Amino acid sequence: MSGGPARPRPLDNSPMDRPVVLILAAGQGTRMKSARAKVLHPLLGRPLVAWVLEAAAALAPEKVVVVTGHQAGEVEAACREAGVKAALEFVEQRERKGTGDAVKAALPSFEHHDGPVVILAGDVPHLTGDTLLAGLKRYREQLVRAAIFTAEPPVPYGYGRILRDPGGNWVRIVEEKDASEAEKRIREVNAGVYVVNARALAKALPELTPHNAQGEYYLTDAFAAIRSAGGKVALHPVADAGEVEGINDRVQLARAEARERARKNRALMLSGVTLTDPTAVYADWAVSVGPDTLVHPGVELRGRTTIGAGCEIGQGCVLTDAMVGDGTVIKPHCVLEAVIVGRDARVGPSAHLRPGTRLADGVHLGNFVETKQASLGAGSKANHLSYLGDAEIGAGVNIGAGTITCNYDGVNKHRTVIEDGVFVGSDTAIVAPRTLGARSVIGAGTTVRHDVPPDTLYLTLGEKKEVKGHPVVKAIAAKAAGKKPPG
Ligand code: UD1
Ligand code: CA
Repeated sequence: MSGGPARPRPLDNSPMDRPVVLILAAGQGTRMKSARAKVLHPLLGRPLVAWVLEAAAALAPEKVVVVTGHQAGEVEAACREAGVKAALEFVEQRERKGTGDAVKAALPSFEHHDGPVVILAGDVPHLTGDTLLAGLKRYREQLVRAAIFTAEPPVPYGYGRILRDPGGNWVRIVEEKDASEAEKRIREVNAGVYVVNARALAKALPELTPHNAQGEYYLTDAFAAIRSAGGKVALHPVADAGEVEGINDRVQLARAEARERARKNRALMLSGVTLTDPTAVYADWAVSVGPDTLVHPGVELRGRTTIGAGCEIGQGCVLTDAMVGDGTVIKPHCVLEAVIVGRDARVGPSAHLRPGTRLADGVHLGNFVETKQASLGAGSKANHLSYLGDAEIGAGVNIGAGTITCNYDGVNKHRTVIEDGVFVGSDTAIVAPRTLGARSVIGAGTTVRHDVPPDTLYLTLGEKKEVKGHPVVKAIAAKAAGKKPPG
């Protein structure tokens, strides 16, 4: 043992030693051509970095350290909002001088750590906790100083290539931009995910130099340094190269979206949801749908939308943060945002339910009805062409076609209260603030400018005027007959 490098203490490789995870997320993501940092771009409605955090959390880490730089504040906020069960820490890398420099920036957060450090990039959203665990297991069982995750993608372009000696032993990683023509033909690549002994890493980092095509400190060189110092380095092949595909541009982002969408939709179908065309349903990652619900093509289910059992969501509907009860039918081309819809309701086609809408069980809202900050009680109906805003509508109310709550006086918004059992005739304008008492009846074509007591008929009668042979009547008749109008 004399003279050789110190063997890892048994403790280092004990399953009792929880890893520290480093997520490298300081880069701008130049190839995205975006004002937004790459790791903030959404995949199924969730920022890329949140996907990676979820995989990291599966390791039950001591903590997750995120290296930020570009838009550090926004990246930190996105990580905190991801809601994963792990202690989060943030380190800012002031200048982007390469992946090795990024890890160096995080050194104070792991240099006294006894267990392994797991390093990954913020742009590998498909990576699963199981894959990370498998690599950690190899690191522990083979008693190595580092395990480098590798893959064989169909097109290795852009990745660092794995160089082996004639005996098949790993030697080093060469980046695309530094590779010779022969090296570029190597298909085995560095996945950019590593498990490494904390102290061995801390010792190797000061040895990095930026003497390469990109003038950067490459993290990959640290593993070569560990190996040169006599530390054993294992390669950990990941069977599905797609799982470690990094997102560098929007073509890859779209491919990632397709992959995760297929997974999400498959899970929905296996849980009992019918998707008539699973390639054409766009559900965000947090969306849930109950069994025996039928979802037609072109439907977008965004944010935290939850849909009950036995529902039908028609073609072209877009639901954002909507809660829909069992047995409800939403006909084609409806837009719902931040709304609660009860059971056995009927909505649409072409209805627009804006934030703060609450529909009780059995409500019917028909075509071209717009609601905003409006509640409708059980069994109430507004079947055609209405605007119901800032309105509290009771149960068993019938809203006639063309009813408008005039909620805005040009300066302030006002509320309309319509109590149980009211019948509102067609083409009614209710000038808020107004209360229509229970079971009152409003005649068609009325402009309601008073509060209406319960059990009362309210209507406004315009004065009737008849002028036989008025010039306007004649002019129109003449035009219809194709003649020059008189005079
Ligand atoms: C890196 C690897 C490459 C590997 C590939 C896998 C190096 C030198 N190369 O290349 O071998 O095949 O990942 O996807 O490590 N970052 C920082 N600070 C920096 C530079 C980068 O935080 O100064 C972050 C980026 O935000 C990104 C991650 O590190 O999340 C990887 O950087 P990127 O530039 O994408 O590395 P690749 O060129 O893909
Ligand atoms: Ca990358």
